[in-house]
Amino acid sequence: MEIKQVDRRAFFKRLGGAAAVATMSATALADELENQMLGQLEAAVNCEPPPQDDSPAVRRGSGIIFNRERTPELAPMPEKATLVDFFERRFSDGIVQHCLRSAHHALESGQDEIHVMAALVHDTIMTLMRTDHGYWGADFLAPYVDEKIAWGIRYHQALRFYPDESVGYEYPDLYREMFGENFVPEPYIRDAYESARKHRWYMHARMITVNDTYGFDENVNPQFDDFVDIIGRNFRQPKEGLGYDNSPSAHMWRSLLNPDRPL
Ligand SMILES: [Fe+2]
Ligand SMILES: [Fe+2]
Repeated sequence: MEIKQVDRRAFFKRLGGAAAVATMSATALADELENQMLGQLEAAVNCEPPPQDDSPAVRRGSGIIFNRERTPELAPMPEKATLVDFFERRFSDGIVQHCLRSAHHALESGQDEIHVMAALVHDTIMTLMRTDHGYWGADFLAPYVDEKIAWGIRYHQALRFYPDESVGYEYPDLYREMFGENFVPEPYIRDAYESARKHRWYMHARMITVNDTYGFDENVNPQFDDFVDIIGRNFRQPKEGLGYDNSPSAHMWRSLLNPDRPL
């Protein structure tokens, strides 16, 4: 699988060496690793290498939409934009590919449609914001999807660090290989996991991790068109267009519509 090709030495060097890595939190390291894998996907899709600079001008938690080198052109959007428009013209190619593979895995393994939909949108916020993306992603989507989907997206960020054999989710080997056996998630992540574990909607977060990077086949390339009907049944499209319906997350959609606005 593609994810096995992450070079540990190069990865540590990019983060400033072993001493710098030792000061980083478990969450930050795992995010860096997954961002690098997404970066490889972006590079493969866009045919442009991700920046290798040790001190990037744009901080790593920001979404690709703020990086002109990686997103030089923004396609015009219709006045009343739909989720499909965002998939086609705003969400980054790498993230769309990642979410499609994840949703394809949910569909092929016969999961309920609510899990397919959750997989399809679970990381879309990362075009705008990578830091704490589970929490941002939940707020981003909550006005438009089943509350269990938003809840699951919020907690998938924490659950990826914790195995659940009942559904075949193992602690990712890649984390063990890259970070060693003593890799401990931060207290807020552990607390989030413990509270999610007891919640009646736990499986809505857990299935997102089951369908995530470590579960799906990196070699399939599902087509977005195959998921448009699922979006139609599971996304409350506002008639005013995303960004202009005065929902609690409308500002996030507007930021994606026009990331060049200074204020
Ligand atoms: Fe994620
Ligand atoms: Fe993901």
